[in-house]
Amino acid sequence: GRALRRVPLQRVPFHLRPCALPSFHSSRGFATNVKQKVVCALYDPPADANPAVLGSTTGELGIRKFLEDRGVEYIVTADKDGPNSVFAKEMKDATVVISQPFWPAYITADRIATAPNLKMAITAGVGSDHVDLQAACDNNITVIEVTGSNVVSVAEHVVMTMLILMRNFIPAYNKVITGKWDIADIASNTFDLEGKSIGTVAAGRIGYRVLQRLKPFNVDLHYTDYNRLSPEQEKELGATYHETVEDMVGHCDIITINCPLHPQTEHMFNTALLNKCKKGAYIVNTARGKIMVAEDLAAACESGQIRGYGGDVWFPQPAPVDHPWRSMPNHAMTPHVSGTSIDAQIRYAHGTEEILQRFFDGEEQRKEYLIADGGKIVSPAYSQGNTTGGSH
Ligand code: NAI
Repeated sequence: GRALRRVPLQRVPFHLRPCALPSFHSSRGFATNVKQKVVCALYDPPADANPAVLGSTTGELGIRKFLEDRGVEYIVTADKDGPNSVFAKEMKDATVVISQPFWPAYITADRIATAPNLKMAITAGVGSDHVDLQAACDNNITVIEVTGSNVVSVAEHVVMTMLILMRNFIPAYNKVITGKWDIADIASNTFDLEGKSIGTVAAGRIGYRVLQRLKPFNVDLHYTDYNRLSPEQEKELGATYHETVEDMVGHCDIITINCPLHPQTEHMFNTALLNKCKKGAYIVNTARGKIMVAEDLAAACESGQIRGYGGDVWFPQPAPVDHPWRSMPNHAMTPHVSGTSIDAQIRYAHGTEEILQRFFDGEEQRKEYLIADGGKIVSPAYSQGNTTGGSH
């Protein structure tokens, strides 16, 4: 078993992987008499289902055989909201729950109280704010995510969205499909990226990759983060550091938000902060919807204080049909999809399987995957950077 474990898990055929009797060890201790059950919320596939969609209820993250070979019950459902949902009912005797930011099953304190056997909440992706982290800590539930699994996917979406906004792409496309040819209309509001000032709120795994990808556009880069980059990294990127988001926003033609949602970032962008932005700035947010005050942002887009807003994150998800961002002017919003490309799905499905393998075999989890463990929040990105070490 030992030699085998040094080989990256995804290269080991399922039938060769280290196998243990169904039992679990964790920081909450050892138990043999508890039924092993994993409950997972995923989105339903399209009608012409592509089996490659590992992140859907047909793909099931590709872990059914792995779990069932170990005698673990595996429930997968898209029905996640409300007390009568399949997820809420099935999690009551689950040892592990899996959810995704794209189709989040909210793991609230109330739900945790119904699930006495729950030991672990896995995020198949990145960003665990759909879990009540305090309630998880109070109940000694490990919260863990597949760190890094979709950071390139999101960084690409951020750069794409900046170009879509700056080049006025969506109104131009709409002219084409409605049979029009009003060039002046589009041309009056379209710009080059080159020469503009662009700042990121957070330069962690995603924010750093956004800066790297923007550098060749010959732009003026800015960032703020709890953790300052090294002088070498700042020099390589040509990025200017700002102590606070308030200090940074006034310098930027485009602001991109790449920090996690936690108490210090919830509703960070309210009218006061939006008014500190340059008039006519653009904002791209693929981090979390709740970092904005939804109505304040919609008003700023209406008034022109913000020239355009794009991204893919909302609250709640799915967003209600009357969510103000669906109808505000100059937006480039998609449903929450940037981190669930086919490439990303393969990475977070493998990562989820590895987390489960380590859990059921009583092995230590990778440190960089842990958000909350042993009754406390351990991720530096969720704890105001008061732990050491960069996160790039
Ligand atoms: P990371 O942990 O590598 O980096 C987060 C960075 O944010 C850290 O450097 C941290 O110091 C910084 N930070 C935290 N609070 C801050 C604050 N108030 N001001 C400035 N900096 C702050 O995380 P990663 O991988 O870069 O992901 C960031 C977030 O992006 C996730 O937590 C998630 O919410 C979101 N995300 C969205 C996806 C999507 O599909 N739209 C997919 C993946 C992540």
